[in-house]
Amino acid sequence: MRYSINKIILTIILGIATVVPIVAFSPHFASTEFEEMNALETQVLWGINAENIYNNIKTLSESPRVAGTEQEKKAVGYIKKEFESYGYKTEVQSFTFNSYTPPQSFALSIDGFSQSLHPVVFEYSVNGNVSGEIVAAGLGKMEELQSLNLTGKIALIQRGEITFADKISNATAKGAIGVIIYNHESGAINVSLGDTNKTSAPAVLLTKAEGNDLVSHISKNPGTIGKLDIEGASFNEKTSSNVIAIKKPMQTKSNNNIIVIGAHHDSVLGAPGANDDASGTAMTLELARVLKNISSNTEIRFVTFGAEELGLLGSSHYVESLSEDEKSRIVANFNLDMVGSKNAGELILQTVDGKPNLVTDLSQAASKKLNGEPTPYNQGERSDHVSFAEAGIPAALFIHNPTEEWYHTPQDTIDKISKEKLQDVAEIVGLAILNQITIESKRSK
Ligand code: BES
Ligand code: ZN
Repeated sequence: MRYSINKIILTIILGIATVVPIVAFSPHFASTEFEEMNALETQVLWGINAENIYNNIKTLSESPRVAGTEQEKKAVGYIKKEFESYGYKTEVQSFTFNSYTPPQSFALSIDGFSQSLHPVVFEYSVNGNVSGEIVAAGLGKMEELQSLNLTGKIALIQRGEITFADKISNATAKGAIGVIIYNHESGAINVSLGDTNKTSAPAVLLTKAEGNDLVSHISKNPGTIGKLDIEGASFNEKTSSNVIAIKKPMQTKSNNNIIVIGAHHDSVLGAPGANDDASGTAMTLELARVLKNISSNTEIRFVTFGAEELGLLGSSHYVESLSEDEKSRIVANFNLDMVGSKNAGELILQTVDGKPNLVTDLSQAASKKLNGEPTPYNQGERSDHVSFAEAGIPAALFIHNPTEEWYHTPQDTIDKISKEKLQDVAEIVGLAILNQITIESKRSK
């Protein structure tokens, strides 16, 4: 009799001890699944603290962090110190890029042409004060230019078929001292040449209507002289950096695989970038902190990238810096970009080809376990996962969809950050990674 009462009491105590903490402290588990959480899973999931992520977003988003500026350097120093405070050795991997300052003044005038023109200077155009005969040069393809004498002249070229940069360099190669390109359709376009080419002639863009009028003017008035002045543009080489912290696998049992968790720490000009992407950066830090003492036979690399906003420069530099062997050992890239806005929609995973891969599979299994529903995926290529996917590495972006309308503006601030969203995404990624490294541990035993 006494024995059975003790047994009942013990059963009740054990029952309370195992069920109550889970129910009371972790409302994120789908109710039917929580019994299946093992000790490592609870260690990771209970370790993740949205307060830490929030506080780091707050610190990082005190100012914009444009690549190549002092503020980016400051953020890099902060991220490095945080990683080190969790016990990681870190590497700051720097790289250079060309930055372009647009001209302070520019003008185009055409002899005998009364209409006013509204030229737009191409991003990356060089300066120049040139004057010469205007010659119509078709689409500016090399074969069209063969029969033309452009030496000392200004080439007038229609948009289409080949890039702006190729049109300008073709005309320059044939001796042109300036280039006017005109649109072949109405509406605004991106007038970038993509990169610096200091040997090309100065160049501006006109609208379709202006270009057509100019073509008819010079055909009626052969020998018309034009004058193109572009002043104050400058090219500077700037430096940005990636911050890398590596969790080495257990020495005796390494399976040679690598997982990369990453986010970009730079922002666009004028934007504090709390959500884009201090959120992903701070979440990468928190996952590094929580996973530090989980034993793994997979290497885990935590990387924050610079200059994403300038064209994925940091992540492509990082991927290019890897050896073929390292590239082949990376089994997954988790890219966290815009993971905490109150005003954005639901979490979605995006892959470059729109198809599932190891990252979406792991994350869907984790989200199903945590929330009862797997996070959906679709196609998207607007962030650093692209650099990994292009190297054949399974990669996915974590983002809320639709995004808040004020991303890339001064309104992207800490007050719009949701701790619930941060906790949810960090738990999904944490559990996905844990499942991968423990499945592998079991396999290699
Ligand atoms: N976080 C954005 C990407 C983004 C924004 C994805 C909204 C989906 C919805 C990222 O930082 C960004 O701005 N990317 C650039 C492209 C990149 C190649 C410069 C973009 O989308 O304009
Ligand atoms: Zn971003």
